[in-house]
Amino acid sequence: GLLVGGAYGVNFAVVYRNRRQSNVGDLEFANTVHIPRLLEGSSDGAGRLFELKARAGTTELLPGKQTPTWGVNGTFLGPTLRARRGEKVRVAYDNRLPEATTLHWHGMHLPATMDGGPHQMVEPGAVWKPYWTIEQPASTLWYHPHPHEETADHVTRGIAGMFILDDEKETEERTGLPRDYGVDDVPLIVQDRKFNDDGTMELRGATTMESFAGVGGVGVLGDTILVNGTYDPHLKVTSTLVRLRLMNASNARVYNFGFTDNREFHLVAQENGLVERPVPLRRIQLAAAERAEIVVRFEPGQKALLRSFAPDLGNSFPTERMDGGEDTFDIIELRAAQKLSKSRPLPERLRDTPPAIEVPGDARVREFRMSGTQINGKDMEMTRVDAVAAARSVELWDVTASSDGMHTLHIHGLAFNVVTYKGKRPPAHLRGAKDTVHVPPDEKVRLAVAMPRHVNADFPYMFHCHVLKHEDRGMMGQFTVVRPGTEDQAPRTISAHH
Ligand code: C2O
Ligand code: CU
Ligand code: CU
Repeated sequence: GLLVGGAYGVNFAVVYRNRRQSNVGDLEFANTVHIPRLLEGSSDGAGRLFELKARAGTTELLPGKQTPTWGVNGTFLGPTLRARRGEKVRVAYDNRLPEATTLHWHGMHLPATMDGGPHQMVEPGAVWKPYWTIEQPASTLWYHPHPHEETADHVTRGIAGMFILDDEKETEERTGLPRDYGVDDVPLIVQDRKFNDDGTMELRGATTMESFAGVGGVGVLGDTILVNGTYDPHLKVTSTLVRLRLMNASNARVYNFGFTDNREFHLVAQENGLVERPVPLRRIQLAAAERAEIVVRFEPGQKALLRSFAPDLGNSFPTERMDGGEDTFDIIELRAAQKLSKSRPLPERLRDTPPAIEVPGDARVREFRMSGTQINGKDMEMTRVDAVAAARSVELWDVTASSDGMHTLHIHGLAFNVVTYKGKRPPAHLRGAKDTVHVPPDEKVRLAVAMPRHVNADFPYMFHCHVLKHEDRGMMGQFTVVRPGTEDQAPRTISAHH
């Protein structure tokens, strides 16, 4: 293992006892991290076209082992898609997988019919062709399958990728943020996996903690970390500032990212857009499906180890309950070159308009209780509409979680702000535009939810726990968005589209 000395020696002793290497052996950060290919698509009068083909294959994820995997335009994970605000986007998603699946645009503000949720199954051999206009600020979104009851399986096998949105008004050109993809603006898709001796990935979850026999089961918790699909990775840094787009694409695991030398970094964006001003932090905790963009400063020749420290999962949910107490993982080593190109200084302001959603005094308040694998005591039902919202309205969603589980709420098609977190004003790193939030056990989180402008009384958006096995077990609900004033007439039962 790698030993780090210095001023934090005492703390590190604690960290080290807890530290998880991997089931393969001590990490040496021997492999250059894979940077997913950037797919900018072909542009013509009709917009930007992304051609995606999902297929099964095998990948050498661990040294010397072949793992059966799924991928998009490759055998594991998929390319990074990139588009700008105002552009029309079209996708041709060619499903060459052995099973029906869907492709969902997590964090995208788009009509429900283009969202790729469980109502939009793509049969093997079929091509799905959604299209929409990018109508939201710069952000780091992602795509992944969403077939009802099979999402964890399809994501674990390898279908997932990043979707970067640019925005001329709040753009990096103006803000001076690093923006050279794969050079000083680097995607880090973090996933935990559990491998069997023959190289296959564990897909179901075997231990009590993982299974649903035990209370709080969350599906597979892997003991091996992959970054962009790379095991034991390092990244070469060539500039004084590097922007990392951290994305937790794991099934359930919560990471508490920080550097082993305890260096400060700046949060510049959350899931659904840039924050107002860079937020100095030493740790950032990301639950499943949360993203954060951080900017890290380097001196020539320096090495920095990004680690996930034991996450804070709430008082009634001690960390040992998550995975036997061992939930400190090394993620990736960053290695600065002897000569670094000088980055522009980090700007003081990142956007003109605050990411705050204005809440009217008469905002509708809804309550959601996450417990077991249900929301408000109900399992997901494809034909049931759980909520009808007025287009462009702002609602307050009060989300509580029971003491017996680990839950993370995600809402499709929109952005929200966290208004209160555990009854208080949220910490700085939870104050921007988000689409996913961890709901600690026995606590309440109040959200200001900015409803989409796209109206369709017959086709729902989803909201659900992003612990994928919870979602698969039915911890999901549906809402439709209708013309203001027509909420009462909207159907509460819809047909299940397939
Ligand atoms: Cu990340 Cu409903 O999805
Ligand atoms: Cu989503
Ligand atoms: Cu959950």
